[in-house]
Amino acid sequence: MSNLKIIIAPDPRLLEVSKPVKEVNNDIKNLLEDMLQIMYRSNGIGLAAPQVGVLKRLVVMDCSDKNTKKKPLKFVNPEILNLSSDKSEFEEGCLSLPTQYAKVERPSNIEVEYKDENGNKYRKSFSGIEATCLQHEIDHLNGKLFVDHISKLKKNRIIKKLEKIKKTKNY
Ligand code: NI
Repeated sequence: MSNLKIIIAPDPRLLEVSKPVKEVNNDIKNLLEDMLQIMYRSNGIGLAAPQVGVLKRLVVMDCSDKNTKKKPLKFVNPEILNLSSDKSEFEEGCLSLPTQYAKVERPSNIEVEYKDENGNKYRKSFSGIEATCLQHEIDHLNGKLFVDHISKLKKNRIIKKLEKIKKTKNY
């Protein structure tokens, strides 16, 4: 089992811009698998490398229904090529913002270019919860959190709650 730990906001590491991965080697492959396992253990549907303190452009995701077969996806250097003009609203949460949720509006469909854990290049379209989740995770790679999409008032309220949670739970 890896010793990765999820960073809880507010934390300056979550505001950094992550660096592109130059070579998809075994270290990257292992890191992606470790990220996927910590995501499943934490009951998350997505996780970006900066959330475990690694400032690399890596994302894992599995938006499949709990009762259906797992559908793990691993992304190296994901880049959004196209965003649809129509929008969807989902209630979002984040493993780095435990117990906090807010409705966020984002483009409904996206086209993304990325490499998988074997270095194969893909260009794929995502919709529904997958489109929202992937945009949320790519935001992390750019130092952005879902609370940056809501009003300052709501954002500050959530950050204050997290500061309290961090003090009491010793994160
Ligand atoms: Ni998140």
